[in-house]
Amino acid sequence: MRAVALVLALISSAFAYTVLTPNGSQGWTNQGGQPLTWQRVDTDRLNFTVLLTNQKVTGFEPQILAALVDGSLGNTSLNAPSGGWPTGTNFRVNLVQDDRNLNTILAQSPEFSILPSSSTIGSYVAPFIVPVWFNSPGSQ
Ligand SMILES: *[C@@H]1O[C@H](CO)[C@@H](O)[C@H](O)[C@H]1NC(C)=O
Ligand SMILES: *[C@@H]1O[C@H](CO)[C@@H](O)[C@H](O)[C@H]1NC(C)=O
Ligand SMILES: *[C@@H]1O[C@H](CO)[C@@H](O)[C@H](O)[C@H]1NC(C)=O
Repeated sequence: MRAVALVLALISSAFAYTVLTPNGSQGWTNQGGQPLTWQRVDTDRLNFTVLLTNQKVTGFEPQILAALVDGSLGNTSLNAPSGGWPTGTNFRVNLVQDDRNLNTILAQSPEFSILPSSSTIGSYVAPFIVPVWFNSPGSQ
C-alpha cells in the first residue's frame, strides 16, 4: 500500500499529463468507443499509449487500448480491446510512454467502472411532454 502511494505521489509531481475522463463519477460502458479526455502541458511527451489496468482483479492482464495517441488532441474515443470490453469496478487507465515502456507511467486515471451498456438505458430520461398554454398579451 505504501509503495502504491509513493508511486502515485511521483506520478503527480513529475508529470503533467492528467486524465480527466474516465473518472469515478463518469465511467465507461462495454459498448462501442469510450471517451478519454486529458490535459497536457508543453513539456509533456508528444504522444502516449493507453493501457487499461485493474489491480483489484487477480490475473487481469493490462490491455493496450491505443498506441501513439497525439497528446495535443485532448480527447479521443477508444475502441474495445480484441476480446471486447471487460466489465466491473476498479479499472484505471494509465497513459504510458509507448508499447515497449508500459511501466513508464505519464498519468493515471482515478478508479472507474465499466458497466454493461444495458445499464445506460436506465439512465435515459424519456422526454416528458408538458402541455403549455400561452397567453397572448393581446387576449383578455
Ligand atoms: C469526470 O468526467 C466528467 C466527464 O468528462 C467531468 O464532467 C467531471 O468533471 C469529471 N469528474 C471529476 C471528479 O474529474
Ligand atoms: C512520440 O513522442 C516522442 C517524444 O515526445 C517523439 O520523439 C516521437 O517523435 C513521437 N512520435 C510520434 C509518431 O508522434
Ligand atoms: C476533442 O478535441 C478536439 C480537438 O482538440 C476539439 O475540437 C473537440 O471539441 C474535443 N471534443 C470534446 C468532446 O472535448
